[in-house]
Amino acid sequence: MKPARRLESLPIYVFASLTSRLKALQAQGLDIIRLDIGSPDGPPADFIIETLSRSAAEPGQHGYAGYFGTPALRQAFVDYYATRFGVALNVADEVLPLIGSKEGIANIALAWLDPGDLALAPDPGYPTYRMSATMAGADVHFMPLLEENGFLPDLAAIPDDVAARVRLMWLNYPNNPTGATAPLSFLEAAVDFCRQHDILLCHDGPYADVCFDGYRAPSLLSVPGAKDVAVEFNSLSKSHNMAGWRVGLAVGNPVAIQALLQVKSNVDSGIFLPVQDAAVAALAGQQEWLATRNAEYQSRRDLLYDLLVNDWGLHVARPIAGLYLWPRVPEGYTAAEFVERILLATGVSFTPGSAFGAHGEGYMRISVGQTTPRIVEAIERLRQFKF
Ligand SMILES: Cc1ncc(COP(=O)(O)O)c(C=O)c1O
Repeated sequence: MKPARRLESLPIYVFASLTSRLKALQAQGLDIIRLDIGSPDGPPADFIIETLSRSAAEPGQHGYAGYFGTPALRQAFVDYYATRFGVALNVADEVLPLIGSKEGIANIALAWLDPGDLALAPDPGYPTYRMSATMAGADVHFMPLLEENGFLPDLAAIPDDVAARVRLMWLNYPNNPTGATAPLSFLEAAVDFCRQHDILLCHDGPYADVCFDGYRAPSLLSVPGAKDVAVEFNSLSKSHNMAGWRVGLAVGNPVAIQALLQVKSNVDSGIFLPVQDAAVAALAGQQEWLATRNAEYQSRRDLLYDLLVNDWGLHVARPIAGLYLWPRVPEGYTAAEFVERILLATGVSFTPGSAFGAHGEGYMRISVGQTTPRIVEAIERLRQFKF
């Protein structure tokens, strides 16, 4: 039995292998506190769960859901973009529900990239950008995200011969893993660059509603003319604590949306109807609970920042959005070595920055997606840790 050759360049997803390793350590008796993964620790608001349960109790809600999403969900996405970002979308052809944004990120590569094409992906970056391009047979050119550039790619550093071959560019702000945000001026420059080189700009923005200190993340589509060249991926996973429900969206350029739909209609059969109803409730219902949730993340961010800076003396920014802190590891360690030492000594699990690409080396990612009591306990253990 021999799997396809394409799997030779496709590792097991980083968090799948990390989870197996942590389970093995747990089985040996280590009490592990996971600060490595960006899964919201809290549930969605009660009214969202109640909508799911009411809808699931209806006998007519259990068949195939169709390929386009319900009219109510499509309209809820349009209304959300209008009220949250001031972006007007055509409900007929500029919106597509996804089974979580990861699914759409993987499928857009199949929809847009031919073997031998080139995709631009950030390094460090969410691993699915490069893996999906690789699965489509395309090559990947990495754009380093350097601290001295605010973890924004230097578009001027992309060589002309590379830009001429590129078919698709990935950007992601608020950024995973660096915690950086992008000013609108950078998003405008990216739209210009992609227009000039005939590139589909894919912006991944699932952290847009996880913001602190009064910051409000923009949509890439708020750049005038962005829809000519861009698609934005979004998700209710982080915004509304619905990571396990699998509901996301792609919005923007109608040709790209149609291409994605063409792949998806051959691969999946839509989102469970009660989940679609609950997603409508999540977007159309009251949003005040999100401010409370974000305030909780913000206070966890501050607890962890205090440990990293005042106890450990590490270099780290205080992120104003997203779920992650991105400190430098101390001199003398690789990211993997330092994270491993912490894990074995304290049971607290961080992600080594190198898991997100070569330019993630020297950093580690720490998530605030863990209950506050467990974060407080992790900090108590980490204060005892000597390096
Ligand atoms: C940058 C980024 N994009 C996409 C996703 C996938 O989110 P989902 O598939 O749950 O919508 C994640 C999840 O961690 C992420 O960090």
